[in-house]
Amino acid sequence: MSPPAPIPEIPFYLPVGNECRLFELAFAHRLPLLLKGPTGCGKTRFVAHMAARVGRPLYTVSCHDDLTAADLTGRYLLKGGDTVWTDGPLTAAVRQGGIAYLDEVVEARKDVTVVLHPLTDDRRLLPLDRTGELLQAPDDFMLVVSYNPGYQNVLKQLKPSTRQRFVAIEFDFPPAEVERKVVVAETGLDEGRAHSLVMLAGRLRSLKGHDLEEGVSTRLLVYCATLVQAGMNLREAVQAAMIEPLTDDADVKKGLDEVVLAVFG
Ligand SMILES: Nc1ncnc2c1ncn2[C@@H]1O[C@H](COP(=O)(O)OP(=O)(O)O)[C@@H](O)[C@H]1O
Ligand SMILES: [Mg+2]
Repeated sequence: MSPPAPIPEIPFYLPVGNECRLFELAFAHRLPLLLKGPTGCGKTRFVAHMAARVGRPLYTVSCHDDLTAADLTGRYLLKGGDTVWTDGPLTAAVRQGGIAYLDEVVEARKDVTVVLHPLTDDRRLLPLDRTGELLQAPDDFMLVVSYNPGYQNVLKQLKPSTRQRFVAIEFDFPPAEVERKVVVAETGLDEGRAHSLVMLAGRLRSLKGHDLEEGVSTRLLVYCATLVQAGMNLREAVQAAMIEPLTDDADVKKGLDEVVLAVFG
């Protein structure tokens, strides 16, 4: 008898609310899922965690302004003198079953939404014009998209006709208690200093909107704690991971430095 296949490791994710249950229900009932929230707050980690939990392969696509429908569906490629059809990540997920995750979906070109629409209603179809196929998504196919509604760019908002095809979860930076646990789990930093960094992040975030477009992310907090855990002193690590990435404006930086001083003395 062959040994059982190894159980894939589940990426660490600490839930904030009912998001894990919602994902499981959406997966079980074939509903597409939209995650919205600021950059670096845990959306991608959440999807990686849940894909492993439901035991399906994850096809992640980071969308950008050159991304076309063909990048998702596939194209004919030249192979040894022949042209061979090659599935894109979305087609692969539909054909084999799995989670297709389109990160920052609003960045993609308009023609991408044309592909997503028939996949996100009850038909769950993916037409491949180039091969003449019409694929029916299997029960274990799920479409997950994310975007950051914080960017004040009206051209980069999701159209209601697209948005209203998804069950949606709003993400934000985790509450302090959860974020401290995340920092400790991700970096091994002690509770005390993790707590201080989380408090500082909270103070820096409260400045958002005045001079800052985005508050310090959980990702940056984890970077900062990584530097501290590696032996860098707190002030230097904060400068490198929580101040410099936020702004290039000298006056704004000074304002942030004052907050750091107020918190750490
Ligand atoms: N709830 C959470 N559980 C575990 N790690 C988290 C959580 N939230 C944020 N993180 C950490 O923050 C980092 C950035 O999160 P990520 O999922 O890449 O953000 P997003 O996709 O929202 O931009 C992760 O690599 C992880 O270290
Ligand atoms: Mg992400």
